[in-house]
Amino acid sequence: MAPETLDRLGRPLRDLRISVTDRCNFRCTYCMPREIYGAAFRFLPHAELLTFEEITRLARVAATLGVSKVRLTGGEPLLRRDVEELVRMLAGIEGVHDLTLTTNGSLLAAKAEALVAAGLQRVTVSLDSLDDRVFARLNDVDFPVARVLDGIEAADRVGLRPIKVNMVVRRGLNEDSILPMARFARERSYTLRFIEYMDVGHTNGWSLEEVVPSAEVLAAIDAELPLEPLEAHYPGEVATRWRYRDGGGEIGLISSVTQPFCRACTRARLTAEGVLYTCLFGTAGVDLRAPLRDGADDVALRILLAEVWASRVERYSELRSAATADLPKVEMSRIGG
Ligand SMILES: C[S@@+](CC[C@H](N)C(=O)[O-])C[C@H]1O[C@@H](n2cnc3c(N)ncnc32)[C@H](O)[C@@H]1O
Ligand code: SF4
Repeated sequence: MAPETLDRLGRPLRDLRISVTDRCNFRCTYCMPREIYGAAFRFLPHAELLTFEEITRLARVAATLGVSKVRLTGGEPLLRRDVEELVRMLAGIEGVHDLTLTTNGSLLAAKAEALVAAGLQRVTVSLDSLDDRVFARLNDVDFPVARVLDGIEAADRVGLRPIKVNMVVRRGLNEDSILPMARFARERSYTLRFIEYMDVGHTNGWSLEEVVPSAEVLAAIDAELPLEPLEAHYPGEVATRWRYRDGGGEIGLISSVTQPFCRACTRARLTAEGVLYTCLFGTAGVDLRAPLRDGADDVALRILLAEVWASRVERYSELRSAATADLPKVEMSRIGG
C-alpha cells in the first residue's frame, strides 16, 4: 500500500475525482442554470482540457500518495469523446481498486458495454424524479425519464454494479418524488442516495430554505418503509447508510449541509483543465497543467501534490455561515460533485 500522506487535520488522501469536461447536455437548475450556461457561455476549448495521457499521469502519481478510488465526472463525463479509452488507461494503474463514474445517464445505454469492457467497475447515475414533468423542470432540457432508465438498465445488464442512483432533493420541486424513487430503487436493488441541495458555486442562487434536510427524507421513507441504521463501509464514507427492516436493500443520505462530514473527507478533485481542489467548496485551486506541460517529471509532480495535500486545512461545510456564502466558490459543473 502507498504511504499515507496526511493533511493538516490528519486526513489521508484516498479519492480522486476527475472532471473530464465542463460541458453538459442537461441544464439542471441547481448546477448549470441556463441563464448563465446559455448560448453565449464560453466552455473550455479542447486544447485546454487535460489529455488522457496527462490525466493518467496525474492519477498514477496520486496513487503513489494513497489514492485508491478514482471517479470520473464532469459536466457530463460521457460527452468526452472516447472516454472509454481513458477508463482503459486508468484501469491499469497499480493501487487503484475502485474505478467508477458519475453520469446523468443520457448516453449510458449506448456506452455501458464499452465502459465495462474498458475496465469501469460501477456507475452512479443521477436521477431526481420518475415523473417526466418534474424531471424536465430539474434538467431543463426536457430529457425523458425513460431514457435515463434505459441507461441504468443497460449498466445493470453489463454488470456495472452495485448501481447507485443520486437524487438531489430541492424544496418545492421534487419532494413528492422521494417515495416513488425509494420504491423504484428498492424493487430493483439499486442504492438510492438522497443529496441535500448544496451551495456549490454561485450561479444556482442557493438558499437554505430550498434544502430539504436528510432527516426529513428519512422520516418520510421510514413512515412507509421502516428503516434502521447501518455501519459505514469504511471511514470517510460520505453517505450515512440505512437499510429497510424487511431486508429490501438500503438507502444513503448525503447531508453536506445539515451534517457536514469534513472531518472524514479524503477527496481531491481535478477540473477538466487540470486545477486541483482539495474541497468541493474550494475558492482556489492549484494548476497542475502548467507543470505538466512545462515538462515536470513524476517526482516533481509527486512532491507538488504531496505539498498541496499536506497544507490542506479546508472544512468548509463545518464552517458554512453567512460569512462564507459569498465566497467565490468553484462551480459544480467544473469540479464534478
Ligand atoms: C455535477 S454532476 C456531474 C456528473 C453528471 N453530469 C451527473 O449529473 O451525474 C455530479 C453530481 O452532483 C450533483 N449536484 C450538482 N449540483 C448540485 C448541488 N447544487 N447540490 C447537490 N448536488 C448537486 C448532481 O445531481 C450529480 O449527482
Ligand atoms: S448535475 Fe450533471 S447533468 Fe445536471 S447540469 Fe450538472 S453536470 Fe449536467
